[in-house]
Formats: sequence, structure tokens, C-alpha cells
Amino acid sequence: MGFARNQWYVAAYGEEVGDGLLARTICGEPVVLYRTSAGAAVALADRCVHRRFPLSASHREGDRIVCGYHGFTYDPDGSCVAVPGQTRIPRTARVPAYPVVEQDSLVWLWIGDAGSADPAAIPRAPWLDSPGYTTVRGMEPLAARYELLVDNLLDLSHETYLHAGYIGTPEVAQTPITTEVDEDAAVVHVRRRMKDVECPPFYAESTGITGRIDRWQDIEYHPPCLYLLHSRIAPTGVEPGPDGDDSGACHAEIVYAITPETETTTHDFWMVARDFALDDADVSRFLAESNRTVVLQDVTALNLLERVIAAEPPGYQELSINIDTGGLAARRLLRRMTETG
Ligand code: FES
Ligand SMILES: [Fe+2]
Repeated sequence: MGFARNQWYVAAYGEEVGDGLLARTICGEPVVLYRTSAGAAVALADRCVHRRFPLSASHREGDRIVCGYHGFTYDPDGSCVAVPGQTRIPRTARVPAYPVVEQDSLVWLWIGDAGSADPAAIPRAPWLDSPGYTTVRGMEPLAARYELLVDNLLDLSHETYLHAGYIGTPEVAQTPITTEVDEDAAVVHVRRRMKDVECPPFYAESTGITGRIDRWQDIEYHPPCLYLLHSRIAPTGVEPGPDGDDSGACHAEIVYAITPETETTTHDFWMVARDFALDDADVSRFLAESNRTVVLQDVTALNLLERVIAAEPPGYQELSINIDTGGLAARRLLRRMTETG
């Protein structure tokens, strides 16, 4: 399908961007990220204008990057301020600088036409750096196109089969979903509300809830990049109060940033923010390990799918059923975004 270029993408976690030069390819574009002495995250094209040497393989001099090949020197705005052997700097000596916004502990990057980058359009994930939550997170490289990860996350019925023993129980696949699309805001909502069901080990061990639970999975996908799963776990019968108070339940905000690396590879950023056991290091360790295991189960499956797709003749028709309504809506919005740039 190609990339929706005029969109914001998560390029990195805030803590990944520091004094060093971080190389990351976003939507096919090699980018170098670093942080200035004043604390601002900077993203430049990772290719020296002179002979293409990667700036990420070069070094910093203060807030500037000095190309490791012949010394072209760049300011954080991408302009070249020194070249070797002459005082005149060619007018075209500049590397593209990408608009960057750091918000909710994420470094968002705009890969398209810089003039149309609107920071207010970046979707929010406030739990990630809010004091009432504790977050664990990681990033796994995926050797599959980002569309396969979108499909995967919009249809959680696969938990029953791919993630049995972690987050999957038979009831996930058995419970029907409702799908709603907000066309104007371009958001896909998929809800699955399970009543009086088994508590999977992922939540039993982390929340300490023993016995049956009511389990909600409310997905909110902001294409292309941000996926939110509002997960609510409560002992069966514990309902939110009429005033909206839901302190009898445990909440996990599962966040994914789906950032295309190339046409067939993806940065799979995963985060789990919770409002329970906030200071419990064992729970953090358990959730980090379990969620990474779950993500790697998906990675293995999607890498396999990518190989199947690469080998198949053109024109293969998939079969879709009710569980796919969220994924199909997401594809439609992504197609619209890709076509309009
Ligand atoms: S390639 Fe960068 S200075 Fe020559
Ligand atoms: Fe999964």
C-alpha cells in the first residue's frame, strides 16, 4: 500500500534520544536522532549531502554533527556551517531536518511535507508519563509490513490461539465485538466486553485478582501509528460507579506505536501502563517479560505471514468474517491517508 507520509510517527522513546547519534529508518527514510545541550530532540536526514556518508556514523561537536568522512559540519536545523578546504559554503549544502515533537514520553516525527506538520494532530497517550501509572516497554523489530501488525492488533481474537497461557483464554475468541469508525477524526473503535470469564495468567499474576473477572478490551486505533487498548479487569460484578468511579477495577493501558521502517519491515514499539501495583518491581518485571513474550509470538507469526505474501502469486483473495471488521476499517482509513499523501 505504501506509506502515508503526511502523518506523525513515533521515531523513538524519549530516553533513546540523547548525546549519541541514533540511526533509525522511518518510512524508508534514514534518519539520525540526537538531543541538543538544551534538551531538544533533533532529527536530520542520515545522509551527508557531500558523498552520502551516514551522519549517524559521524560525531558531534557540541550541538553540531561533523561528517565522519570529510568533515562537512551541520547545525541542528540541517544547514551546513563548514566544509573542508574552502570558506565558501555551497547554498545547497543542507540536509533535511524533520519536524519533531516530544510528547507523552514519545518522540514523534513528521516525515512528509514539513509545512503541513501540525503538532496538535498528534494523538495522545498520557498514561505513559503520568504519576498515577507505571509503564514497562520495549521495541521489537518486525520483518513484516506494518499493515500486518495493524491487522493483528485490531483483531484480538487471535489471543486465544496465539497467546494461550499468557493473555488468551477461550472467551476472547468466543465473544463478539462491536466496531465503530469515527470518519472525521479517523479513529477506529473496537470493543469486546466479557462478563464472568476466566482471568488469564497475565492479569491474575499482576493484579492478584483470583477467581472470575469481567474483562473489557476497548481498542482505539489512530492510524497510522498509535494503537491504544484500554484494558479493564475487575472481579465479576464490580461495576463502575454511576459517577464514573472505576477504582474497583484494574486498568492496563496497552499502547503500540506502529512505525513502518521499510515497505516490508516495521518498528514494533510496545508499552504497558498500569494503575495498580505501582511500585511493585516484581509486577513490572513480570509484565515486561510476559508482554515481550506475547509480542514475540506475534512477531514470529507476522514474519511468517510476510514470507507467505512475498511468495504468493498476485491476486490472492483473503476471506474476511465478523472479527475482521476493525481491521478492514483500519485498512480503509490507511488507504485514504496513503492516497492523500
Ligand atoms: S561524505 Fe560527508 S563530508 Fe564527504
Ligand atoms: Fe497478539
